[in-house]
Amino acid sequence: MKTKIFKDTIEDIEAAGRILASGGLVAFPTETVYGLGANALDGEAVSKVYRAKGRPSDNPMIVHISDIDDLHVVARVSEDKLQKKAIENIYKAAEAFWPGPLTMVLPKSDRVPEVTTGGLDTVAVRFPSNPTACLLIEKAGCPIAAPSANLSGKPSPTTALHTLDDMDGRIEGLIWGDDCEVGIESTVVDMRDSTPVILRPGKITVKDLERALGVKVRLHYTLEESIGTMGNGEPSHKSYKESREEDIVPISPGMKYKHYAPEADMTVFLGSRDKALKMAEIEANRLKAIGHKVQILIFDNPETAAHDLFRKLREADKAGCDDILAVGVEEQDKDGGIAFSVMNRMLKSAGHNIRKV
Ligand code: TXA
Ligand code: MG
Repeated sequence: MKTKIFKDTIEDIEAAGRILASGGLVAFPTETVYGLGANALDGEAVSKVYRAKGRPSDNPMIVHISDIDDLHVVARVSEDKLQKKAIENIYKAAEAFWPGPLTMVLPKSDRVPEVTTGGLDTVAVRFPSNPTACLLIEKAGCPIAAPSANLSGKPSPTTALHTLDDMDGRIEGLIWGDDCEVGIESTVVDMRDSTPVILRPGKITVKDLERALGVKVRLHYTLEESIGTMGNGEPSHKSYKESREEDIVPISPGMKYKHYAPEADMTVFLGSRDKALKMAEIEANRLKAIGHKVQILIFDNPETAAHDLFRKLREADKAGCDDILAVGVEEQDKDGGIAFSVMNRMLKSAGHNIRKV
């Protein structure tokens, strides 16, 4: 299949919308990462997304809308399904964060086929803020199921070029938009209980949600839990894999799959920034001496880290690096802030191959 490149213009977005409406696949920019879109109400179109990504079909998709009224097309926000408090939370969150990088897990409506939700009776809904994404959804005239537009297991694409690298020949179209502002995927929050639970951390943090909703918000797991308890300078890969990953009930099915992994071997150095960098440099010299091509990743602040992490991982692979040595930003985390969300991605990218310094 030839992948048509669309420009970020009204005429081209209209043409791309027609492809979606007729059951085809189009990748498009959002404020978080590029998405791979299909008509969320068309089971056959959605199954093509799983095939194009090489994604297991029990990993459900996020359904994107461009108008708050369409929430009721895909979800059931009603008292027969939810407590009053939960409904109140949902509307407050929509008011505060939509359009934007927040995805709410809600009871699904009958119109959403089971392939879209991986067989779950819930649906993840997001109203993105990127104008191109919104116009595309509007022109398609249907809610759009869209996972990140990477091949399954690879880092999410944050540029049009990286999207094309993975999807060329696998999809009907790609809208060539700008690089993504945020750089990591949306915050996924289960809103069905009166206490919301964050399943995947993102730019919108626990504190942001608590402030807007006026209720306590839980994180499904903490950073300490993901790092594990080794702390003795040994890679904690094994301890995490054996003691944690299997134990985590995959409320969000995406949690159980290998994610964001570059081709290169990746290690994350945790600890004070200067010390971690020093250790990374020592390790880089050791690896270079045995002929490896090595890339050190260090970021000025957590926002830049979010913006650049996936892009840098892909660039390191393109440059043929054998090893990526990343300096963590966990020290700059303030109560589950964006540094926490970045570390969630960085640790997964490295397969939890961690050195504490
Ligand atoms: O920022 C984003 O969210 C991007 C852009 C394109 O919008 N999309 C994205 O989709 O990251 P994806 O498919 O790569 O990740 C969706 C995550 C997965 O971890 C999936 O398991 C979870 O959301 N998810 C989807 N539906 C769910 C549901 N009904 N219940 C729990 N988790 C769900
Ligand atoms: Mg993804």
